[in-house]
Amino acid sequence: MDLVTARARAEKLREEINHHSYRYYVLNSPVISDGEFDALVDELRALEAQFPELVTLDSPTQRVGAEPSAGFVKVAHPAPILSLDKATDRAELRAWRTRIAKLLPADTPLSYTVEPNFDGLTVVLHYHAGSLTLGATRGDGHVGENITSNLRTIQSLPLRIPCAPGGPQPPDTLILRGEVLILLRDFETLNQRLLEAGETPFANPRNAAAGSLRQLDPRITAQRPLFLYAYQIVTADGPAPESQWETLAYLKALGFAVAEDVNRRCDSLEAVSDYCAALNARRDSLPYEADGLVIKIDDLPLANGLGTVGGRPRGAIAYKFPPQEATTRLLDVEFSVGRTGVITPTALLEPVSLAGVTVSRASLHNFDLVQERDIRTGDRVVIHRAGDVIPYVVGPIRDLRDGHERPIVPPEVCPSCGEPVAHPEGEVAYLCINAACPAQRVQRLNYFAHVMDIEGLGESTAAQLVEHGLIEDPADLYTLPKEAWLTLEGFADKKAENLLAAIAGSRERPLRRIIAALGIRGVGATVAAVLAAHFGSVAALASAPPESLAAVEGIGPLTAASIRAWFAREHNRRLVAKLQRAGVRLAAERAAPVAGVFTGRTFVITGTLSQPRSEIAAWIESWGGKVTGSVSRKTSYLVAGENPGGAKFNKAQQLGVPIIGEDELRQLAGAT
Ligand code: IVH
Repeated sequence: MDLVTARARAEKLREEINHHSYRYYVLNSPVISDGEFDALVDELRALEAQFPELVTLDSPTQRVGAEPSAGFVKVAHPAPILSLDKATDRAELRAWRTRIAKLLPADTPLSYTVEPNFDGLTVVLHYHAGSLTLGATRGDGHVGENITSNLRTIQSLPLRIPCAPGGPQPPDTLILRGEVLILLRDFETLNQRLLEAGETPFANPRNAAAGSLRQLDPRITAQRPLFLYAYQIVTADGPAPESQWETLAYLKALGFAVAEDVNRRCDSLEAVSDYCAALNARRDSLPYEADGLVIKIDDLPLANGLGTVGGRPRGAIAYKFPPQEATTRLLDVEFSVGRTGVITPTALLEPVSLAGVTVSRASLHNFDLVQERDIRTGDRVVIHRAGDVIPYVVGPIRDLRDGHERPIVPPEVCPSCGEPVAHPEGEVAYLCINAACPAQRVQRLNYFAHVMDIEGLGESTAAQLVEHGLIEDPADLYTLPKEAWLTLEGFADKKAENLLAAIAGSRERPLRRIIAALGIRGVGATVAAVLAAHFGSVAALASAPPESLAAVEGIGPLTAASIRAWFAREHNRRLVAKLQRAGVRLAAERAAPVAGVFTGRTFVITGTLSQPRSEIAAWIESWGGKVTGSVSRKTSYLVAGENPGGAKFNKAQQLGVPIIGEDELRQLAGAT
């Protein structure tokens, strides 16, 4: 391809990729598959590798590319970032309007735009000729820090606008503001991931977002699920909307995420107040943390004309939700064991009402945090609750101590199985390392069912299965007969049948699913997908030497070591073998000529073959077949190599069991 053609193709690819990222990350409604999307990015990467002169800073391949920096450079903002006056009820909202009305001609009609007051970090974004050229933190409101490389990694932040074909052409210079935050569901996942990697989870989404944005290494930022909502235009050297409501629509048309689920235009202050009350009632269903709402005079020239008082604009006010914090007594601490054996403390509280819900348990995150904040049993503590997630203990009120408080110490033995607890050097985690620990079994089973998408198998069913001794590991699910299910509480015919069908259906999940479902530390959905694509089968992954694991992009030395350690354990290898025998797909689809072609067939091997018998046996098992040691009526085939053993050979002839060679075996699988 010549440079001119390549340039045109690269441009076209960027346009398409930008559009599909926007559909995926911002609109949450992709119109192509992940695979098709990856193919576009791969093609662009290949083109840029071949013609490096075509790489542009705003290319979607450049989201992560910058080297770690030694520090952040200061940048002056084009206009100061102010704070807002606050209101907590209808009367205060009315007082605000009265103050404004006095400054305006009598009976000036006012409309308002209501938006979430995001609890994130304000950022200022500069676009020139449609490309992101600078992104800065709020700083002290006048001077912030240049964090462009970190902001580039945020998938919902457009590197070039407009994102969608047919979107409005932005003015040459466009400077806008928005808030960077972590959505509540992503926060949960992030903390889970950190916990499993033995790292300290974040106390709340805002801390997580702040810590991630101010990373000197953008590669770390790129791994954090940051999200951007846009809400304000600071400067535009061309036509820009004259109302806040239209501004939001315009930002959306350019390809920014705006809080459409909340944003609303109201024509009276009464409507604003009603809307505030309605939103307060459903604040738990918001996908992010919000302190309340921001109410803005919709007419922007009018709002700006009102000026500021005490450094706060008159044209907008923050309506604060009633606090989601409460104080109560920490009565006791419960220790629970996760699937990887990590022991986490949960606070048992004197029940307290918090934002309309009675709270009696709260997360203490981990023992490091407990120690750092010096939280003790018997303390009066502040608890915080956001969304539907479990509330957490913010910290103790030290002034209210009477000396009866007791430090919280990690347990010495596992609360489930009683085995000694380990605390590996340099790790935050306290671990139960007994693989047979019932609590871990329950959690592993629950996790397996979740990842393999086995509908109807939740934690309580998993607990029953383990308690009744019906299941040792997840592979047993595939052989558990209906009668066994029927012995469980609450299981009638229909429910058992549905579960059996769901379990059977899970045999055919894509390879990345089963790799994730194994529950290897550090191998979540993303890493599992990388491993599946690279190795193509569980067998190949199991036998990969550490250096080839660590050479895979996206796999660090810790994860590589964790994978090796997992497969080194007898117990885990047995699990894989059992899954194989149960007919669970352990190889990528394309590597399998006919997946499960040997399911239901039994083989016996004799004589010398081209590979060790164990290898041939593993191969047969990978196609769903079973390998046994002696010939019987149930044997489907005797696979005979050179110098076959007389006994097996004779028995097969006697029983009429077909005797085949290695080539025929491979033909049977359709592998030749
Ligand atoms: S408009 C005078 N809109 O929260 C500044 N700000 O509580 C008005 N914030 O300083 C800016 N969500 O940093 C605006 N929807 C929103 C916001 C928002 C969060 C930030 C902003 C502001 C502070 C005010």
